Amino acid sequence: MISILSGKGGVGKTVVAFNLAERLNAAGLRVLLVDCDFACGNSHILANVCPEYGLGNYLAGQLSLNEAVTAVGEDFDILTATGVGNQIDSGNVSAAAHLAEHLQRDSRDYDAVVFDHSSGICDAATVLAHASDVSILVVLPELMSISDSYGLYKYLTEKNSKIDCRLYVNRVRESGEAEYIRRKFCAMTERFLKRVPGYLGYLMESEAIRKSVAGQQPVRGIDPDSAALRQLTDVAQRLMGAVERGRQSRRPLIEASINNEPATADIKE
Ligand SMILES: Nc1ncnc2c1ncn2[C@@H]1O[C@H](COP(=O)(O)OP(=O)(O)O)[C@@H](O)[C@H]1O
Ligand SMILES: [Mg+2]
Repeated sequence: MISILSGKGGVGKTVVAFNLAERLNAAGLRVLLVDCDFACGNSHILANVCPEYGLGNYLAGQLSLNEAVTAVGEDFDILTATGVGNQIDSGNVSAAAHLAEHLQRDSRDYDAVVFDHSSGICDAATVLAHASDVSILVVLPELMSISDSYGLYKYLTEKNSKIDCRLYVNRVRESGEAEYIRRKFCAMTERFLKRVPGYLGYLMESEAIRKSVAGQQPVRGIDPDSAALRQLTDVAQRLMGAVERGRQSRRPLIEASINNEPATADIKE
């Protein structure tokens, strides 16, 4: 389970989640993308599907996971935020724990589950990140994004000190810029939090990405020779270790136990 998070909105979470899911699928994995932007989910637009059913039906127990997902490609499905209503929102800890628990049980036919979260610090994303094997913090090379990401990193690590959180710098103009942001971010977290996030890499500011959004296609369908596609493929490769670890040790997460976890008990309060 892989969570894609950010402090600030519009940093490219959905673009990264969708294309990363596509790259993991291209590497031979069975992949499920879950739209956890419950109020403003838009991953179906990138995937160019018009789902009849989705997360709402799954949460309500009306449909099984298999029935609620929409196929994007072979072995690549999406669970859209369709029909969620008021069953879950970003502040609902027990609904998020319920979702995490049910997905852990029902998603065993998939090799990887990618969560595309809403922006900012919220309880649902924190619970799902807690259930994930790796959490990717998408940051832009700009001051506000760095400061919001620092806040989110602080929050996530305070709630769960064992979280595997990795920094991913999007929309960089040259590779040195990503390295600069990584060093700044890590210097700040080292100084004030006495820990540093892992580093997943970067994605350049890219015409191929812009065209892929406009064309509602993965980057591979727009420009298979683009630097953006190579960078996304590299990231998917770097995540293979976490995918393998997660597959081998699906951690049990039941609502009763999550309430006892110091990390999430805090949030519940
Ligand atoms: N690397 C990139 N190069 C060019 N444009 C990008 C890049 N990443 C994101 N974008 C643009 O930013 C917009 C917002 O991205 P999105 O994934 O919707 O952000 P979020 O999900 O974090 O709110 C996209 O529609 C796309 O046009
Ligand atoms: Mg989004």
